[in-house]
Amino acid sequence: MENLKEVLLKNHQDHLLKYLEIANEDEKQKMIKQIDNIDFEQLNKLYKISKNNNFNTNCKIEHSSFVDKSKLTIDELEELKEVGKNIIKSGKYAVVTMAGGQGTRLGHDGPKGTFLLNVNPKPKYLFELIAEGLIRANKKYNITLNWYIMTSTENNDKTVEFFKEHEYFGYPKESIMFFEQGNMPFLSEEGKLLVDDSFNIKYAADGNGCIYKSMLKDGVIDDMKNKGIKWIFVGSVDNALVNMVDTVLIGLTIKENNEIGSRSIVKSNPHEPVGVFCKKNGVPAVIEYSEISKEMAEATDDDGELLYGESNIMAHLYSIDAIEKISKHDLPYHSAHKKAPYMKENGELVNPTKPNAYKYEAFIFDGFSYFDNMSVLRVKREENFAPIKNKEGNDSPETAIKLYNNFWHV
Ligand code: UTP
Repeated sequence: MENLKEVLLKNHQDHLLKYLEIANEDEKQKMIKQIDNIDFEQLNKLYKISKNNNFNTNCKIEHSSFVDKSKLTIDELEELKEVGKNIIKSGKYAVVTMAGGQGTRLGHDGPKGTFLLNVNPKPKYLFELIAEGLIRANKKYNITLNWYIMTSTENNDKTVEFFKEHEYFGYPKESIMFFEQGNMPFLSEEGKLLVDDSFNIKYAADGNGCIYKSMLKDGVIDDMKNKGIKWIFVGSVDNALVNMVDTVLIGLTIKENNEIGSRSIVKSNPHEPVGVFCKKNGVPAVIEYSEISKEMAEATDDDGELLYGESNIMAHLYSIDAIEKISKHDLPYHSAHKKAPYMKENGELVNPTKPNAYKYEAFIFDGFSYFDNMSVLRVKREENFAPIKNKEGNDSPETAIKLYNNFWHV
C-alpha cells in the first residue's frame, strides 16, 4: 500500500486513494490490480499530446500517385485480375474485419456489426452483409477464406455470442477467428484517471491502429503464417458495400512491387471532410481534411485531377511481412475529446453533457509510414462505399440503405 501511494503521488494520480477508501474489499483489490497494470510513463506522455494533437506541423506533404481502375484497358485489368485470382485460389489470401470500435456516433446498443440495416429485399445485419460477400467470393474461387474479426474488451463477448446465435450466417465456423484489441485509459482534462461506478479504471479501445500489435499478441500473425497466408485484406465493419476480395487491388499491389495497397474514392468536392492519401515526409500517409490548407485542398494536376483527392475508405491490403513489420513498431496515439461518464471520489455519478475527457487511439493508416511506397487504386464510390457512421444525415443508415439498394438493384 505504501508503494502504491508513492507511485500514485509521484504520478499525480493520488485521487485514486480516495476511491480505495470507500471501496469494499473486493473492489479495492480489483482496483489495486488495475493500478498495478498501468504504464504511468506512457500515460504522462499521452496527456502531453492531449491538447496538441497536430502531427502535421512542419511536415512535407506531397501528392501520392494512384491508378484509376476505370482508366485501365481490358487487357490491363485482366492481367491484374489473373494475378489476384491465383493468390486467392492458392489459399494465400485472408480477410480481417475491424469491429472493435465503439460506434458512438451511430449510438446503436451493442457491437456495430449487430446493427440491422433495413435493406431490400429483407433487413440484414452488418456482419451478415460481410459474411454474404465472403460466401459469394468463396463460391467464385472455390475456396474457404479465413475470416479474422477484431473485437474489443467491451464488445467481444457480445460479438461472439451474436455469431453463435445466428449460426455464423452460414459461414464455416472453423474458418472464423475472433481476436481482441487492447485498451487505453481515459484521462480527465486535468490528466486524472477516471473511475466508473464499479470501481474500475475507465478504459476505451485503443484505436484501429492497434490492430497490428493485437494480431501479433493474439497469435493471428502466427496462425496466418501456419496457414500459408501471404496477403491480407483489412476492412471496416461499417461499410455496407465493402468488397473484401478484390483481385485487381491484389494484382496492382504485386505488379507495383509494393507490400501495401489501398482502395480510394475520389472526393466529391475539394472540401469534403475526409482523410486523403498523400506522402508525408516522403512516405505514404493519410492526412485529415482539417490538416491541409484551402489551396492544397483545391490544387489540381495538369489533367484537372485533385492533387489530394483520393479518399481513404478503410480498404487496405497488406503482405503478411508488412503486417509483421508494422506490429513491431509503436504507432503514435492521437487524442480525442469525448464525453466519458464517471464516478466522483465521493461516489457521486457524473453523466457529462459535453466532452470532459481524452481518449487515445492509434490510427491504422499510421502503419503505412514504415514503407517507401504503397499502391492506391481509385474505385467508384457507388460500387464500394456505403458507410454507416452517424444516426442521421450524411453517412447514416438511411444513405447506406439507398446506396446498397441501388448497387444491388433491389
Ligand atoms: P471509426 O473510426 O469510424 O470509429 O471506425 P467507430 O468506433 O466505428 O465509431 P465512432 O467514431 O465511435 O462513432 C472505423 C473502423 O475501425 C474500427 C471500427 O469498428 C470500424 O470498423 N475500429 C475503430 C476498431 O476496430 N477499433 C477501434 O478502437 C476503433
